[in-house]
Amino acid sequence: MRTIIVILLLAAVAGVAQEKKTKVSFKQDVLPVITKKCLNCHNTEDESPSNLYLDSYEELMKGDSRHGPVVKPKKGEESVLIMKLRGTTTFGKQMPRGKKPLDEETIEMISTWIDQGAKNN
Ligand code: HEC
Repeated sequence: MRTIIVILLLAAVAGVAQEKKTKVSFKQDVLPVITKKCLNCHNTEDESPSNLYLDSYEELMKGDSRHGPVVKPKKGEESVLIMKLRGTTTFGKQMPRGKKPLDEETIEMISTWIDQGAKNN
């Protein structure tokens, strides 16, 4: 009986690990977070103070006019976007500015999307 429970538990843990590696979609997973948490500042209608517009995939990939691209495809943890969400850049504040930081799981998800090539998927 014990063995069966242990096996079931291991299977459950493996299942969760597997799920984490599944493909992240820009449109279904990343964009809704940006729309909800970032667009009130980073949009083309208001003069975005940082010159970083996040209303579309193209704008996100272009980055900001001073610091260049904020997404380095395949390099999630080295991307300014992820560093900004973690508050580890040498300039400016942690994003979303003046609000509660995103939870680790969400930051991890966006970082995984970048690691998977930052595609418009
Ligand atoms: C309340 C307004 C506000 C919100 C909300 C906000 N930002 Fe920002 N963001 C700024 C300002 C102002 C700057 C420029 C100063 C700085 O770097 O702190 C900036 C800078 C940035 C930069 C650096 C751009 C560069 O290369 O200089 C990134 C990346 C960024 N924001 C991402 C985000 C993301 C992702 C979100 C949503 C999770 C977000 N921001 C939410 C105001 C905001």
